[in-house]
Amino acid sequence: MDGIVVFGAGGRAGRAVTAEALGRGYEVTAVVRDPARYADLGAAGVSVVRGDVTDAGSVREVAGGAVGAVHAVSPFSGPEQGFDSLDPGFFVKAADALLEGLASAGVRRLVAVGLFANLLGADGRPVMDAPSAFPPEIRPFALAHTAGLRRLREAGEGAVDWVMLTPGGGLEQDAPRTGHHRLGDERVPEGAPGLSYADLAVAVLDEIETPTLHRTRVSVFVPRDVRRT
Ligand SMILES: NC(=O)c1ccc[n+]([C@@H]2O[C@H](COP(=O)([O-])OP(=O)(O)OC[C@H]3O[C@@H](n4cnc5c(N)ncnc54)[C@H](OP(=O)(O)O)[C@@H]3O)[C@@H](O)[C@H]2O)c1
Repeated sequence: MDGIVVFGAGGRAGRAVTAEALGRGYEVTAVVRDPARYADLGAAGVSVVRGDVTDAGSVREVAGGAVGAVHAVSPFSGPEQGFDSLDPGFFVKAADALLEGLASAGVRRLVAVGLFANLLGADGRPVMDAPSAFPPEIRPFALAHTAGLRRLREAGEGAVDWVMLTPGGGLEQDAPRTGHHRLGDERVPEGAPGLSYADLAVAVLDEIETPTLHRTRVSVFVPRDVRRT
């Protein structure tokens, strides 16, 4: 059975990706920092392992044999957490470690989850540059995320074929799986439609199974008319 390795498997996106992958018949290596905290992740077909997405050796160790990898790690889970402990270089370190570690493990496909804040608005500037549209207090996190995307792009034509899927609006934890996502481009989709974590997971697995985009970042969303039905 083919395997998928999910970094950040204990988080909201990681759990949705794990569930989608299991539903498609994959074995999942669920990478978390402390397996003891994630006993609930254990299920038939899921191996919960300790790993560090910012360490190339750790990435290589946990990823071997997988047909694809998912980067759903976030060092920031909500405004209540504050930014005192945020490492502005976190996503750059993760990009470096994933590209190096996956390449040496022979894993060729990486799908990363992006952040709405660095999609481009109607004026061509990143959403996070418009204080009226984006909370300035979250800007440090948005800048860190953006630096990680830049790092992936700087890697050029390496061994790992990556794509970053960025929610075109909000991500809704308890919203249903519609199975009708669309992929856009670098811009905020019209009306900034969001999507459920479950539909994000569908998009992630689709891009692992049948890669359509290479070394680029696009929006992912479910059109509002579809979400209402
Ligand atoms: N609208 C949007 O654009 C939008 C909305 C939400 C999320 N996102 C993005 O989606 C991705 C996933 O977000 P999420 O909502 O699923 O986040 P989440 O629920 O907070 O989960 C993040 C996971 O990352 C892990 N993690 C944190 N620091 C880590 C570290 N140093 N090394 C390894 N793992 C670490 C945490 O697990 P442990 O603490 O156990 O290690 C946690 O389970 C992120 O890139 C986030 O920015 C985008």
